[in-house]
Amino acid sequence: MSSFKEGLEDVVVSTSEICFIDGREGRLLYRGYDVDDLVRSSSFEEVVYLLWHGNLPSRKDLDAHIKALSSMANRKLPLKLIAILRQLPKKTAPMEVLRTGVSALQAFDPDAEDNAREATVRKAVRLTAQMPTLVAAWERLRRGKPPVAPNPKLTLAANFLCMLSGQKPTELAAKTFDVALILHADHEFNASTFAARVTAATLSDLHSAIVSGIGALKGPLHGGANEQVMRMVEQIKTPDRAEAWIRKALADKARIMGFGHRVYRVEDPRAKHLRRLATELGRQTGSARYVEILNTVARVVSEEKKIYPNVDLYSGAAYASMGIPTDQFTPIFALSRVAGWSAHVLEQHAHNRLIRPRAEYTGPTRHAYVPLDRR
Ligand code: COA
Repeated sequence: MSSFKEGLEDVVVSTSEICFIDGREGRLLYRGYDVDDLVRSSSFEEVVYLLWHGNLPSRKDLDAHIKALSSMANRKLPLKLIAILRQLPKKTAPMEVLRTGVSALQAFDPDAEDNAREATVRKAVRLTAQMPTLVAAWERLRRGKPPVAPNPKLTLAANFLCMLSGQKPTELAAKTFDVALILHADHEFNASTFAARVTAATLSDLHSAIVSGIGALKGPLHGGANEQVMRMVEQIKTPDRAEAWIRKALADKARIMGFGHRVYRVEDPRAKHLRRLATELGRQTGSARYVEILNTVARVVSEEKKIYPNVDLYSGAAYASMGIPTDQFTPIFALSRVAGWSAHVLEQHAHNRLIRPRAEYTGPTRHAYVPLDRR
């Protein structure tokens, strides 16, 4: 059979109009717009519209889109879903709760099995609105506290932080969170998006595709890396210990989370925004040491290995400065990436062909069957 690329490296599996990555120049575009410009001037809600519809919205379209994403009807969870959450062991990891909750939400969705574009957009609106409520509700329930009701007057970012802690976030925290959501919203054919597209390509529905995406995002080589970065920071403890710690880790040939990328050969363009915001937040909240530790780690890893920070290096420092528990970092990634996954499901359904690659078989071919009593 023909040659193959391990891990599908550099293999182009489809065309797409959603996201462009220039791995050599370190540029990332959503629908042709540079994320640097979107971070400066846009909001997560507007970026969601851009990803799903392919263009920036008019004022009227944006207002209607924000209204749908923030309405109580779309943000609140069915009471029966809260009852399901209450049945789960309190030690269940938030990412597992999110996967379970999104799967269960399909049972309550009026468009559940309808794959028409309009129905899929309605489901994407509901899921994007419900997932923050789900993640925040679990945080409260596992601490033995009642969930906080969504506030339709707040942005998705501010509402999530409010539901999580029960307190209105500072302006800087809400802004930082909004930017983090913009930066995580899409990233071409990354592992979780590919998983979502493979599921959608069987003509399965949006919820099933998003559950596939969540399962793939969870792993430490993908979205789970942000949690591992924070665990590294916790081990290093203080900035003065960072250089010796990371030099030893490199000497031990450890894989350093938050570095390296399949596509970028330079620093991930998202990292600089998260570094800046995590630095500001760290100063404001008295947790500057997180970024100080990461800056030393980044200097040494870049010098020694010529691999550079990716999106996961600084996001956790920002979330930790907001008081968010480490095991919520990957679910937070999913709250944003649901926008990209949904855009890709819409695109896949619009020009569908089953995704079904081949394997180069390397196993035996001439085994004669041996009956059980002769083995
Ligand atoms: N720490 C240490 N070495 C790394 C590394 C890292 N984070 N990332 C890559 N490398 C090294 C590998 O050891 C390998 O070296 P070798 O050729 O001497 O064996 C080389 O770089 C290529 O690595 P490979 O794992 O084959 O690259 P990939 O394209 O398959 O992997 C990642 C890409 C993202 C999975 C990889 O960089 C990684 O594991 N990073 C850490 C996890 C992470 O931050 N993930 C989030 C991505 S946004």
